[in-house]
Amino acid sequence: MTRRAEPIRSVKGTRDLLPGETALWQRVEDEARRVFVAYNFREIRTPVLEPTALFARSVGTDTDIVTKEMYTFQDRDNESLTLRPEATASVVRAYIEHGLYNEGGVHKLYYLGPMFRRERPQKGRYRQFYQIGAEVLGSDHPSIDAEFLEMLILFLGRVGLREFALLLNSVGCPKCRAEYVKTLRRALDRVKSSLCADCQRRAETNPLRVLDCKVEADQPVIEKLPHILEHLCPECRQHFDRVTGELAQRGVAYQITPRLVRGLDYYTRTTFEVTSNVLGAQNALLGGGRYDGLAEMLGGPPTPGFGVAIGQDRLMLAVEQAAQLKAGDRLTAYVAWMGDTALQPATRLVQELRRENISAEISYEPIKLKKSLGIANKLAARFAIIIGEGELATERYQVKDMTSGQQEEVEPARIASYLKDKLMSSV
Ligand code: HAM
Repeated sequence: MTRRAEPIRSVKGTRDLLPGETALWQRVEDEARRVFVAYNFREIRTPVLEPTALFARSVGTDTDIVTKEMYTFQDRDNESLTLRPEATASVVRAYIEHGLYNEGGVHKLYYLGPMFRRERPQKGRYRQFYQIGAEVLGSDHPSIDAEFLEMLILFLGRVGLREFALLLNSVGCPKCRAEYVKTLRRALDRVKSSLCADCQRRAETNPLRVLDCKVEADQPVIEKLPHILEHLCPECRQHFDRVTGELAQRGVAYQITPRLVRGLDYYTRTTFEVTSNVLGAQNALLGGGRYDGLAEMLGGPPTPGFGVAIGQDRLMLAVEQAAQLKAGDRLTAYVAWMGDTALQPATRLVQELRRENISAEISYEPIKLKKSLGIANKLAARFAIIIGEGELATERYQVKDMTSGQQEEVEPARIASYLKDKLMSSV
């Protein structure tokens, strides 16, 4: 006997999503597309592989993402490439590269797909994870921020989430933030010796990053640091007040959270996250904000932007917990046939149903009726269609509703419309 080869396992921090899970993932993606389309967003697909400089320049050279989490390698021609850790930079790159700004007006774009960060894997944190994101390019109007957040809350409701908090802050513009950072530096000089080693380094290189330190012992000290909201310039203050005012008008609840500076450097003015306590330590379900300077940083014309990325892996944990959204029936019809003469008409029926976009399955091996019904159950089929000698003789097939157990005789040519009517009346 030959020895079996050692099985190869998936890479640490990556995982397979099996059919048992993907059905609900697709439902969530469908809801996202529906909501985005209602708000006039259109899909953009950008490459997973990008020049490393794209993220260094946008996300920032002193962020955790760029310093320690990127999958970066030299290509065979020595170009430095990176598996995208996020997609906002890619969307803005594409916007500039294809001159979308020439079309004028506001561009509303959404995307779905895998991102890569070499973090320590745990529940809700993976090295390959999935984001559902959306970006608005071309307007700095505060109503854009408010309308966008309204859309997110609508989406979270659509996928059955009720318990979450929208945290909101402003990180100002480069002008007022620079002043605030000076104040923060002075405050940090007095207390930094009591902070963790990372914070001591950040206090020098990028003091804002101290505010999103997660080390428990540092928290009492960080809580007492000056708040950016008290140092906004009049224009940034006005923007923030208009966003919060409009959120109230739109019936969107939020919590002002002055420490919310986010882990990426491109943000200006509004920043936000939605947290959910069903997620444990990795409680940020989504995050985003305004990035009015990013297009210029990437060599494009000044273009204000606002966007979000929803962590789909975390969203799915919350959706499963809320148990409101169901994956739906797996299969509409299982066609059971008995006797050789029934195989051909059964095959024809399955072909016809599939052409009508009615999902259908058949076994090509002869199987007894009882076992066929067992298979229909296992496949979570909504209906079993039974074709035996009797049915062929009367030219009426039995259609059994697997949920109610009721059975009706239907002419073969009418089965597709019969099933469609039944499906419609049960939604
Ligand atoms: P981010 O906060 O880095 O923002 O990521 C957004 C969301 O992605 C997080 O809230 C989290 O749910 C999820 N996420 C991040 N890392 C992981 C991980 N290792 N495993 C699982 N989920 C993760 C951005 O990416 C920005 N591009 C958002 C944005 C869009 N800002 C403006 N436009």
